Amino acid sequence: MSPALSKLVLGILLSASASAQDFGSTRGEDSFSYVQPLDTVILGPYGHVPPVYPSPNTTGAGGWEDAMAKAKHFVSQLTLEEKADIVTGTPGPCVGNIVAIPRLNFNGLCLQDGPLAIRVADYASVFAAGVSAASSWDREILYQRGRAMGEEFRAKGAHVALGPVAGPLGRSAYSGRNWEGFAADPYLTGVAMEETITGYQDAGVQATAKHFIGNEQETQRNPTADPNGTVTDVLQESVSANIDDRTMHELYLWPFANAVRAKAASFMCSYNRLNGSYACENSKALNGLLKEELGFQGYVMSDWGGTHSGLASIESGLDMDMPGGIGLYGMAFDAGSFFGGNITAAVNNGSLATSRLDDMITRIMTPYYWLGQDKDFPSVDPSGADLNTFSPRSTWLRQFNLTGPSSRDVRGNHGELIRRHGAAATILLKNEKNALPLRAPKSIAVFGNDAGDDTQGFYNQDDFEYGTLSVGGGSGTGRLTYLVSPLAAINARAAKDNTLVQQWLNNTLITTTNITDLWIPAAPDACLVFLKTWAEEGLDRESLDPDWEGNKVVDSVANDCNNTIVITHSSGINVLPWADHPNVTAILAAHYPGQESGNSIVDILYGDVNPSGHLPYTIAYNASDYNAPPTTAVKTTGKYDWQSWFDEKLEIDYRYFDAHNLSVRYEFGYGLSYTTFELNNIEIERLVDNISSKPEAQKIEPGGNPVLWDIMYNVTIEVTNTGDVSGSAVPQLYVSFPDSAPAGTPPRQLRGFDKVHLEPGDTQIVSFELARRDISFWDIVNQDWLIPEGEFTFHVGFSSRNLKTSIKATPVSI
Ligand SMILES: *[C@@H]1O[C@H](CO)[C@@H](O)[C@H](O)[C@H]1NC(C)=O
Ligand SMILES: *[C@@H]1O[C@H](CO)[C@@H](O)[C@H](O)[C@H]1NC(C)=O
Ligand SMILES: *[C@@H]1O[C@H](CO)[C@@H](O)[C@H](O)[C@H]1NC(C)=O
Ligand SMILES: *[C@@H]1O[C@H](CO)[C@@H](O)[C@H](O)[C@H]1NC(C)=O
Ligand SMILES: *[C@@H]1O[C@H](CO)[C@@H](O)[C@H](O)[C@H]1NC(C)=O
Ligand SMILES: *[C@@H]1O[C@H](CO)[C@@H](O)[C@H](O)[C@H]1NC(C)=O
Ligand SMILES: *[C@@H]1O[C@H](CO)[C@@H](O)[C@H](O)[C@H]1NC(C)=O
Ligand SMILES: *[C@@H]1O[C@H](CO)[C@@H](O)[C@H](O)[C@H]1NC(C)=O
Ligand SMILES: *[C@@H]1O[C@H](CO)[C@@H](O)[C@H](O)[C@H]1NC(C)=O
Ligand SMILES: *[C@@H]1O[C@H](CO)[C@@H](O)[C@H](O)[C@H]1NC(C)=O
Ligand SMILES: *[C@@H]1O[C@H](CO)[C@@H](O)[C@H](O)[C@H]1NC(C)=O
Ligand SMILES: *[C@@H]1O[C@H](CO)[C@@H](O)[C@H](O)[C@H]1NC(C)=O
Repeated sequence: MSPALSKLVLGILLSASASAQDFGSTRGEDSFSYVQPLDTVILGPYGHVPPVYPSPNTTGAGGWEDAMAKAKHFVSQLTLEEKADIVTGTPGPCVGNIVAIPRLNFNGLCLQDGPLAIRVADYASVFAAGVSAASSWDREILYQRGRAMGEEFRAKGAHVALGPVAGPLGRSAYSGRNWEGFAADPYLTGVAMEETITGYQDAGVQATAKHFIGNEQETQRNPTADPNGTVTDVLQESVSANIDDRTMHELYLWPFANAVRAKAASFMCSYNRLNGSYACENSKALNGLLKEELGFQGYVMSDWGGTHSGLASIESGLDMDMPGGIGLYGMAFDAGSFFGGNITAAVNNGSLATSRLDDMITRIMTPYYWLGQDKDFPSVDPSGADLNTFSPRSTWLRQFNLTGPSSRDVRGNHGELIRRHGAAATILLKNEKNALPLRAPKSIAVFGNDAGDDTQGFYNQDDFEYGTLSVGGGSGTGRLTYLVSPLAAINARAAKDNTLVQQWLNNTLITTTNITDLWIPAAPDACLVFLKTWAEEGLDRESLDPDWEGNKVVDSVANDCNNTIVITHSSGINVLPWADHPNVTAILAAHYPGQESGNSIVDILYGDVNPSGHLPYTIAYNASDYNAPPTTAVKTTGKYDWQSWFDEKLEIDYRYFDAHNLSVRYEFGYGLSYTTFELNNIEIERLVDNISSKPEAQKIEPGGNPVLWDIMYNVTIEVTNTGDVSGSAVPQLYVSFPDSAPAGTPPRQLRGFDKVHLEPGDTQIVSFELARRDISFWDIVNQDWLIPEGEFTFHVGFSSRNLKTSIKATPVSI
């Protein structure tokens, strides 16, 4: 039996057995030691997936009832072949395409990458990456960014935007795609997901929450194909993320719950396996967690080539196969599809119930009607088809009539927004001896190959040597229409002060030369060093150091320049071994700010904007200090040998460092300002008289049991700007659970934040509204969120370790 066929057969076997046995509950199981015989057959000797069947029907809950009625009416008019078309992608002008049905006035669906720009497009903006947006800790910016991106997708004729990203969450510092997502914390990522999705969808574009779930590394994310076999013959299966139930709920699923609550139209299941079963055919994840527990009403699409079976995936909750072909990344369209013609065959031979197929389409069409995409939706810009290297015209199997003007400029005034967002996301890590802001310096020197103009084009360049880095690579990149480099922006700004600007952009030269031999006529007032760190989809990072000998560049400059200011453009975590060097007076982490990069950093360097970014992860002293490295060095050849055990459970990033009381260089939530802030008068108001430990079971709404989102407490605090310049503070609330919470509960967890702009001397009250979920843990026995008995402490401060004050409360007495 070929693996594909065996999966189809076992899929049927599974769904048949599901009604006979109650596998739905994971009562009492918190380890992988419990392996069911059935799973042993399906998944090899590893993992345990509690089967959850059948796949639940959509109900239109949460305000989609009218749209669902329209979708059902639409479904009722479809032939079986048309139904198969709607759930199966096909090569076409967009990276994902659902064909039109002209007789029903349905123009098809255009799905486009990605999380920071509409990628396959000209005359579109490149926004700040997710890691930058999260560094702003600013709900308004997160919303505006999503909204502006959504406007561009829509104007280019894209119905579905393939973003935002909450997986990877950032379990490992090395994951190649962390920058596409937001923060190594579920709460901050959850807020970012909610704001971004609302922004996209307010602009009339469907959001896709991805990659669901456990996609915490790139290495072996896809199976290794047998070079001598057919496209479905596998030598080694993809890496399996083996995640216990509590960790799943409290870390990885958490931000996706926010995404469902924000009514994300679609979810994309990920490439990796979960507990041994592919994420796109894992019934516990798709039917159980997503559709039942979280009440997701939209549709699940596969990542490109992430579908590994037909019926087994459909029964497990997959609703749309993307891009539709079989093979790695779905490229082999000529080999057919697990869906497509197999759908019609499976309905005709009775193995696939029409009701399940109808539900798949109802889920796909409901958000389409809800967002009004049936009315006046712009046509797909024909220029996108010319830029689409994934499915160029020569690969198209179906007819696409491309109408409307080509190369539409959809950028509007988004450049201004991107400049502002880039500055608001820049994190000031160190600032001594009044190094920043610059005050009309007489002479400055600019160092590093990240400072200047790009020399190898504006699209998805692999870690190029010369030129500034503003985005990462892969499907999450963007095509720049212009790029303001730091050097160009510095030159423009310096001209206003008649500042002398010298520049050395060759890192090899800088690291092999005595700097004092370079500059004239005397040491500059400030030396600006620009470093970069590339990351891309498909590869994990090998090091947490900046690229191109960045550390040596800093050492070389700091040896001879007593005012060395380092700026990093990076995908995420860099350990900064030179951070304590007395001549390194300032450090700025600017991540991937998008097309206005230079202007954003100049606004910060010169103090036109006061820095207010905060770290969305922890910077340790040493790369080896981090917990949970990716699984890489599997040298054996067994089919199921790629196993990634999430044994660290909740202990990722600051949760780990705090649990073990380890010193770090710059902690999660950290970030400086040119002014100073104070916190005073913390207060807490209890909003519910009788708080039960267990939530009352109510009808599931998008986001899960609605009771979980009820506000239990309101913590308020006064924030004052005690310095001389205006600026924005980011007060943060961290919760410490009572001792009665189960072992493994992190000492402190982020459960609230706000960003407030204050003039010098001004005070404002900030409030943190704590929902039931915020003060609950996931109880594996009850299969529910419980509030532990005893006293909670709510800490408020300016980072996870700079906690200024706290207040206690006992929601449930012992
Ligand atoms: C993974 O396995 C654990 C332990 O058996 C189980 O509790 C959990 O529900 C499983 N999750 C998935 C998605 O299969
Ligand atoms: C979904 O709805 C159809 C038709 O209304 C019904 O036959 C089917 O049993 C339902 N499926 C589930 C899982 O409830
Ligand atoms: C593929 O076939 C060639 C020629 O028979 C053989 O040398 C090679 O080992 C095979 N590769 C694998 C991975 O089986
Ligand atoms: C059906 O799926 C199989 C893989 O199981 C594939 O080889 C075949 O081409 C598919 N058929 C169609 C019509 O797409
Ligand atoms: C029904 O069709 C599907 C899709 O082609 C196929 O995988 C399955 O084996 C068929 N089942 C039967 C019982 O013929
Ligand atoms: C494309 O245009 C032709 C001619 O107007 C029409 O017959 C056909 O149905 C259109 N196809 C699609 C997919 O819209
Ligand atoms: C960079 O500097 C090194 C060392 O001086 C030199 O060998 C190399 O040619 C330079 N590269 C460029 C592009 O000028
Ligand atoms: C660089 O040259 C200056 C002037 O000759 C000297 O004082 C300094 O020690 C040298 N620095 C290094 C790192 O060699
Ligand atoms: C700092 O820079 C000065 C030059 O301004 C240099 O003399 C000194 O050695 C440097 N300090 C260190 C620790 O490198
Ligand atoms: C650097 O050295 C110069 C010359 O000795 C001195 O005037 C200046 O104050 C120093 N700057 C810093 C930031 O230490
Ligand atoms: C960093 O960790 C490595 C490996 O454990 C160790 O060899 C090295 O000394 C550490 N460096 C620092 C600065 O602690
Ligand atoms: C929390 O307090 C703030 C400030 O007083 C207030 O504006 C807000 O409405 C309160 N929230 C709730 C849920 O009571």
